[in-house]
Amino acid sequence: MAQHDTPDSATGEAILERTLGPLADCWGRENGYLSIDGQPLSARLPQTPAYLYSRRCLDMAVATLRAALPESIGIHYAIKANPFPPVVRHLAGLVDGFDCASLDEMRLADEAAAPEQKRSIAGPAKSRAEHRYAIEAGITINAESVSELERIMVVARTSGRRARVALRVNPPFALKGSGMHMGGGARPFGIDCEVIPSLLDQRETLAEGGIDLVGLHLFAGSQSLDAEAIAAALDGWTELLREWQQTTGFTPAELIIGPGLGVAYHPGDQPLDLAALAPAFARLDEQLAALGQHGGIRIETRLEMGRFLVAGAGIYLTRVVDRKISRGTTYLLCDGGMHHHLALSGNLGAVLRRNWPVVAVDRLDDEADDTVDIAGPLCTPLDVLGKHQPLPSLAPGDWLGVLQSGAYGASASPTGFLSREPAIEYLI
Ligand SMILES: Cc1ncc(COP(=O)(O)O)c(C=O)c1O
Repeated sequence: MAQHDTPDSATGEAILERTLGPLADCWGRENGYLSIDGQPLSARLPQTPAYLYSRRCLDMAVATLRAALPESIGIHYAIKANPFPPVVRHLAGLVDGFDCASLDEMRLADEAAAPEQKRSIAGPAKSRAEHRYAIEAGITINAESVSELERIMVVARTSGRRARVALRVNPPFALKGSGMHMGGGARPFGIDCEVIPSLLDQRETLAEGGIDLVGLHLFAGSQSLDAEAIAAALDGWTELLREWQQTTGFTPAELIIGPGLGVAYHPGDQPLDLAALAPAFARLDEQLAALGQHGGIRIETRLEMGRFLVAGAGIYLTRVVDRKISRGTTYLLCDGGMHHHLALSGNLGAVLRRNWPVVAVDRLDDEADDTVDIAGPLCTPLDVLGKHQPLPSLAPGDWLGVLQSGAYGASASPTGFLSREPAIEYLI
């Protein structure tokens, strides 16, 4: 079932401002068109479909987050959100480390990162090759099960090296208001928190098996726009850490926390209020400093995230190929679709498909006086780019831009479906 957002007549300019807030200013705009160096981007870019990413947006997203964080809390970029190498290389100059989810992501992180930047790998069912690579490169392995610890020990033994390991914790709570729950209840991710104390008690045995237990990985969910819920999850984590310190004497030297910071994708979404979260970050810092003091070490804390850093820095560009009316509904049929942007079509974990912020890139000042359905080139009714979407009246050849497309776009889509060309990616 599709949910139709209430149509409004906002101009593209207003959609940019309300969706991206201060990041909107990172996108060039002249005389009602999105621009690159003063020229319409539709004239500068050779073709659609394409993803366009902005360095200035990446800079601003990281700077905005840093401004809300105590200095001692670092930022790790989760490459899974956007593994386009130029984006990862640019972020390497801005963040403190990387979270990887595969062998190729580890290789990319190694190529992009400076030696002092920490890297970790998370994910269930890691392969032997992934364990081996991580151990040899000194990458922290976030262990997702007790049996993974056993597998890591085997690889450490055969490679004659020690493994840096963090226990990924499946918390007793889920991050409320998050688009994707990844904690609480039974999960393939992480070790149930009730099992953690017994593992912490066995750290000497793990050390004998070649595992240096360097810390914990705490991730409860993603895509939350609710500052209170995120703050409550952070408090929940420190509560657990305090309890474990009391019962097992374990103080993590390294903590990787996924706060689940979300971005506003749909009409009516209120962007996350970072200023409202700043006190929670400060409290986290104070509480961890106290725990560290009690344990006689300094806890190195990193927040791990993807979309918050990269979503606003990406626009997906597609061109209208055909305009047709079917039994009263006007369709814009475009050259881009769900094979490039699965999330836009509502098929990447959404319960109900909602419209995204779509603008006519050369008509930013024009009122939306048309209401259209937007479809891609695939012969499936799933290939939806917009339903009852308000836009200026457009014709074949006109370009559309989908905002907030920098995360989970090209790499999270079925690019092989129907054997069509991939979208070209650019970083400007
Ligand atoms: C372990 C882990 N870290 C980080 C992320 C990134 O989440 P987000 O892009 O919402 O920040 C995910 C997303 O699923 C994840 O599973």
